Amino acid sequence: MGAAQVADQRLQLGVVVAAFALFDWRTMAAIRRIDAREFWIAMAATVGVIAVGVINAILVAVVLAVVSFLRLTARPGQFVMVKVADGPFPLLRRPLGIHDAGANGIELFFKVAGLGTEILSRKKPGDRLDLIGPLGKGFTVTTGMKGKRAFCVGGGRGIAPIYFLAHELGSRGINTTVFYGGRRLADIPLRDKFEKAGMKPLCSTDDGSFGFGGLVTELVGRELERSKPDIIYSCGPDAMMKTLASLAAKHRVPTEFSLESVMGCGIGACWGCVHRIKNESGDGWTKICEEGPVFPGERILWP
Ligand code: FES
Repeated sequence: MGAAQVADQRLQLGVVVAAFALFDWRTMAAIRRIDAREFWIAMAATVGVIAVGVINAILVAVVLAVVSFLRLTARPGQFVMVKVADGPFPLLRRPLGIHDAGANGIELFFKVAGLGTEILSRKKPGDRLDLIGPLGKGFTVTTGMKGKRAFCVGGGRGIAPIYFLAHELGSRGINTTVFYGGRRLADIPLRDKFEKAGMKPLCSTDDGSFGFGGLVTELVGRELERSKPDIIYSCGPDAMMKTLASLAAKHRVPTEFSLESVMGCGIGACWGCVHRIKNESGDGWTKICEEGPVFPGERILWP
């Protein structure tokens, strides 16, 4: 699905940008004054933007045809961009972390949080879903980690990629402990699924309605006092991961965190997903969709 649709999305973005340029107030002012020179400059700029969009779309189609061929297998931490409706609206695709993947396809887990996910929640078995992916860079899991110990921490809907990750770690002989936190019992709906898969998650609820009463980071902190893992992976709210980063630094445990963000394109075209990340040249705004969404915890600059 990938190449042609990524190209199509870039073309759509190009057209949207062009439309904004066309109706920009300066352009309208030029039209009202019937200033021919300014009008034709504005029109030339508009046509230029559309031309760049078309050329860009063709180039992306060619390049991604090769890239898609190389990305036949989804990895934990990667995501897909989902077109939720057949018509033009909502215009933008929704980014969703891959919840599980196997021979029959991929699973997505999401919470209804707006129009896009509400439309998605009405899909039925047998409906077709238009996806681009797998996209982004996922969690690091290597064969050399066999026999090591990992903590996987999911907060709220951030649990989605943790299920896939914990599966993968277990299949590679990595001793994995899953922490699953939410505000209340209704916010940790996947606990039974983990249990059935043989992964006994340590659950917490802020209101004490299930499992440990308190923040999941407090639960992780307790476990860290008892025994130290070789790595901590996490996905969830920024505040949760920021606290985890401090805990991990205190116990000298390396981390990998999956950042969540609003995304316009998911393919590095719009700069709609930037986050401050430390890199070789300093602290720079980095596109999460392209460079992430998973980063080593020590590189992330928290708000
Ligand atoms: Fe467009 Fe990341 S979502 S650059």
